[in-house]
Amino acid sequence: MEILRRIGAAALRRGHLLTEGLAEALGEAGRVLRFSRGLLEFKARPDDIFIVTYPRSGTTLMQHLLVLLAGRSVEELQHISQAAPWFERSLATGALTAEDLERLPSPRVFKSHLAFAWLPRGGRVIYVTRDGRDVAISYYHFYRSHLRYEGSFAEFFQRFLAGDLQYASWFKHTLGWERHREDPRLLMLSYEELVADLRGALERVARFCGLPLSEARAEEIAARCSFAAMKRQEHKFDFTTELLLQRGYRPGSFLRKGRVGEGKLELNAEQQEAFLDRRRRPPRRPDVELRLPLFLR
Ligand code: A3P
Repeated sequence: MEILRRIGAAALRRGHLLTEGLAEALGEAGRVLRFSRGLLEFKARPDDIFIVTYPRSGTTLMQHLLVLLAGRSVEELQHISQAAPWFERSLATGALTAEDLERLPSPRVFKSHLAFAWLPRGGRVIYVTRDGRDVAISYYHFYRSHLRYEGSFAEFFQRFLAGDLQYASWFKHTLGWERHREDPRLLMLSYEELVADLRGALERVARFCGLPLSEARAEEIAARCSFAAMKRQEHKFDFTTELLLQRGYRPGSFLRKGRVGEGKLELNAEQQEAFLDRRRRPPRRPDVELRLPLFLR
């Protein structure tokens, strides 16, 4: 029996390595493959909370609110995604596997921009809507600041209307979810409601998720979720920080020590000798370098 279990585990590992290698080679198709695999392996829990939106509709605000409600805080994190991962993107890029998600403590909070048909069933969903015209403007600025878009707003707006954007059509996305408004496991809120009455929304969210909320705590969370308070810690919410962390970025390491003579102290004898030896033999044509630099990702 044990031998069969071992053979099975080895086959699974091999399968994983194979699909991982394939995913790497396939680019975007590979991301779809990884996501599909993650979706099959993911085990939803009844107390899971999915924050679902079309991008730029108030996802991050709701993410912050829920992370605080669940008893975490961005002060202890480098980025909000460490407490509330972006479900489909983490699986698609391989930043997290279904196994990693399994290790997260309950209640798990996920952010997602998936259409209704793609979201795993089983947990609770908070869907945040926003006036589509405001979404279009906000998304346009995001495309310019984060996705290197160089077109005009008029061009972008045509793409918005046609659904030719990262998360396809706003109209389809919102309507697709709207159809399930009566589902007791779905809470629909609007960005406009959140901004007008954050305290009220917070109470509704806490009740819906079955999370405790005292008067004092509600006061504190509402203050921490104000635009001004979040703006002061913007890097903890910005998608760019999430990307950099995935690529191994360590904050606070750019201006490192600013000292003289560290090399003499830190290089071992062999390294010192190799350096001095290389310096004693200068290149013959230092002015000719035909190689292109290695461009950073
Ligand atoms: P604007 O670009 O209109 O300013 P998402 O998190 O879904 O990407 O949504 C981003 C939008 O929510 C941005 O809109 C952002 O400024 C706004 N937002 C984020 N935190 C907020 C807060 N605490 N209060 C009000 N709006 C907030």
